[in-house]
Amino acid sequence: MVEAAKIVEQAQPDILDINFGCPVKRVAGKGAGAGMLQNIPKMLEITRAVVDAVKIPVTVKTRLGWDADNKIIVDLAEQLQDCGIAALTIHGRTRAQMYTGEADWTLIGEVKNNPRMHIPIIGNGDVTSAQRCKECFDRYGVDAVMIGRASFGRPWIFKEIKHFLETGEELPPLSFDWCMDVLRQEVVDSVNLLDERRGILHVRRHLAASPLFKGIPNFKETRIAMLRAETQEELFRIFETITPRV
Ligand SMILES: Cc1cc2nc3c(=O)[nH]c(=O)nc-3n(C[C@H](O)[C@H](O)[C@H](O)COP(=O)(O)O)c2cc1C
Repeated sequence: MVEAAKIVEQAQPDILDINFGCPVKRVAGKGAGAGMLQNIPKMLEITRAVVDAVKIPVTVKTRLGWDADNKIIVDLAEQLQDCGIAALTIHGRTRAQMYTGEADWTLIGEVKNNPRMHIPIIGNGDVTSAQRCKECFDRYGVDAVMIGRASFGRPWIFKEIKHFLETGEELPPLSFDWCMDVLRQEVVDSVNLLDERRGILHVRRHLAASPLFKGIPNFKETRIAMLRAETQEELFRIFETITPRV
């Protein structure tokens, strides 16, 4: 991890985030990701070593604990803070929950309200609307909210939330064409960042999840074509045929 951290630092990122939250079997089952929740001394040793190895801020993301009987996050947060991390993101689920059930924000709130904690606490899990996001800030006092799945195919959720937090009012509905342009840009960015094949593969999941296409009559065939397209050009040609629901 120290060696990897030094390589990462050479790319000059703003921060280095250690992922102690990944629940998938091939990761957590090997003791990595959320698997580290079963070996706290090692998690702390790694965190301390990484913090000491680089000059950039090191942050950590993790879950409430390994399972329902081991929701250790309140103590763990203090221990991680003592390692010198700059901020902590907490996904309000255990490893055993994977992505099932509901995220439990009460423990995230407990961490934030622990008077011994002074680093920023970022809450995460099941935030799918501007209203819910505001509620999380108000009720649990977190310094920031992290949004994952709700942004799939809906990257404008951040714009919607920003507007709601700033004005207390919902952003007027965004036009279909504007949203399509955002999705096009997402495809272009993804292809530029990866390459055409991997970029297209990456955005498929986002297109499949996009609420923009929900309720369009007879969309099934277009959807299948969209998820099969292999080039940016093919995908954009299909985009041209899509008309918004009325
Ligand atoms: C497909 C997928 C990939 C993810 N990859 C990462 C990752 O690389 N690093 C990470 O910290 N979290 C990752 N997560 C977890 C999310 O960041 C987030 O903690 C989780 O989805 C809960 O938040 P949400 O309810 O807003 O989605 C991933 C989640 C999904 C569904």
